[in-house]
Amino acid sequence: MMDKEEVRFKDISLKLYKPKWDSRLASIIVELEKLRVKRIGGPVPPYIFFQLKEIFQWLESLGSTRIEGNRTTLAEFVERIIEGIPRDTGEERMREIFNIDKAIEFIEKNISAGTKITRAHISEIHKLIVDKLSFPPRGEGSRHPGELRPINVVIKKSSLTPPDSTKVPEYFEELMEFINRTVDPKDDLLVAALAHHRMAWIHPFDNGNGRMVRVFTYALLIKQDFQVKTGRILNPTAIFCMDREKYYGMLSRADTGNEREVLDWCEYVLTGLKGEIEKIDNLLNPKYVTEKVLLPALSFSLDREHITQREYGILQALVRTDEMRLKSADLEKVIGKESPVQRSRIIKRLKDKGMLRPLKEGGRIYTIGFVNNYLLRGIIKVLEENKFVPKSLNER
Ligand SMILES: Nc1ncnc2c1ncn2[C@@H]1O[C@H](COP(=O)(O)OP(=O)(O)O)[C@@H](O)[C@H]1O
Ligand SMILES: [Mg+2]
Repeated sequence: MMDKEEVRFKDISLKLYKPKWDSRLASIIVELEKLRVKRIGGPVPPYIFFQLKEIFQWLESLGSTRIEGNRTTLAEFVERIIEGIPRDTGEERMREIFNIDKAIEFIEKNISAGTKITRAHISEIHKLIVDKLSFPPRGEGSRHPGELRPINVVIKKSSLTPPDSTKVPEYFEELMEFINRTVDPKDDLLVAALAHHRMAWIHPFDNGNGRMVRVFTYALLIKQDFQVKTGRILNPTAIFCMDREKYYGMLSRADTGNEREVLDWCEYVLTGLKGEIEKIDNLLNPKYVTEKVLLPALSFSLDREHITQREYGILQALVRTDEMRLKSADLEKVIGKESPVQRSRIIKRLKDKGMLRPLKEGGRIYTIGFVNNYLLRGIIKVLEENKFVPKSLNER
C-alpha cells in the first residue's frame, strides 16, 4: 500500500552524465578549468583583500537567507553592521545571516584541496546554520540540528516530494561516496553541480536544506582546489540567489532525472559560476580596487559628510600608495601644516572610527578600514554601481 506522498515521490539515480564535447556546457567546463589552475597570489594587499572578502561573504549569506524568505534588505543589513550588532545576536533574522557566515568559516577552516567531506562535516554545517533559531513555522530553525531527518517533509513552493525518511541515510551515504571518489579532474565541476541538486533532492534535514546546500557547494569547490578560499573573492552561491524562480525551476527540471534536463541543470550552475569568477577577478587587481572601488567610495563618503575634507585627503593619499598603507610619520606629512597636537588628534579620530587600522595591533603602519564604519555605505554603493551586488538584495 502506498499513501499519497509515496505516489508522488519519484526515484531517480545519481549518475554522472557527460556533455557532448562540442556542447556549450563542455566549453564552459574548459574555461572554468583554466580558472582553476590560474594561481593568483593576489597583488591586492591581504589587509585590503580580506576586508573585501568579508563584505562578499555577507552578500552571500544575506542572499541565501533572503531566497528562503528573510526580509532583511542589504541597506538595512549595512546599517546594522555599522551600528556594531553582535554576531551572536538574538534577533533571529540577523542571526540567520551570521549563522551562515559561521558555517562558511567552519568550511574554510576544515576543508581544503582534497579533503574527504563526510557526514560529520555536513552535520556540523547544519548545526551552525540553524543554531539558536526558533522552530518553523515561526522561525528558520530545526528540530533535529545536525541529524538526518526522522520525519517526512514537504518543500514550500516546490513540486518535489523528497525521499521517505527511512531512505535518507542510504541516499546520503551514496552522495558522500559520489563526491569523494576519484574522477577525471575535468568531471569535478559536473560532480559539484550534480551534487547540489542531489543534496537538495534528498533534503536530508527537516529544515535549512537550502542554506546548507549552497554552502555545501562552496565546500566542494574548495575540495576541488578552486581558488575560492584565499586566492579569490568568489561568491559562488550568488548564482543561486539572484533569481529564485529560475533556481527552483531548474532544480525541478533536474528532478526528472533525464539526461537532457540534468545536463541543463549543470549548464545553469556552471555558467553562473563562470560569470561570478570573471566578475570577481577584477577585485584582485589593485588598480581596479583603488580607482574603481576605494576612491569613489571615499568621494561618496565625503559628499555625504561621513568624513571631513581633511580626513578624505588623508585616506585618499593612503589608498593611492602602492601598498595601500602609510607609516604614522607619513600620515603626519600628508596632514601638513597643523601643530603636532592637532595632527595626532586628527589621526586619533580616524583610528577611533576604525577608518585607519594598524596593520599589527599597536603598530605604527596603517591601512584603511572600511568594513565596520560609515565607509561601508560608500563601498556597497560602488559595488552596486559596478554590478557586483544582485539587485534582488534590496527588493522588498
Ligand atoms: N524541485 C526541487 N528539487 C530539489 N531541491 C529543491 C527543489 N525545490 C526546492 N529545493 C531545495 O529546497 C530548499 C528549501 O528547503 P528548506 O529545508 O526549507 O531550506 P531552508 O530552510 O534553508 O529554506 C531550496 O532552497 C532548494 O535548495
Ligand atoms: Mg526553510
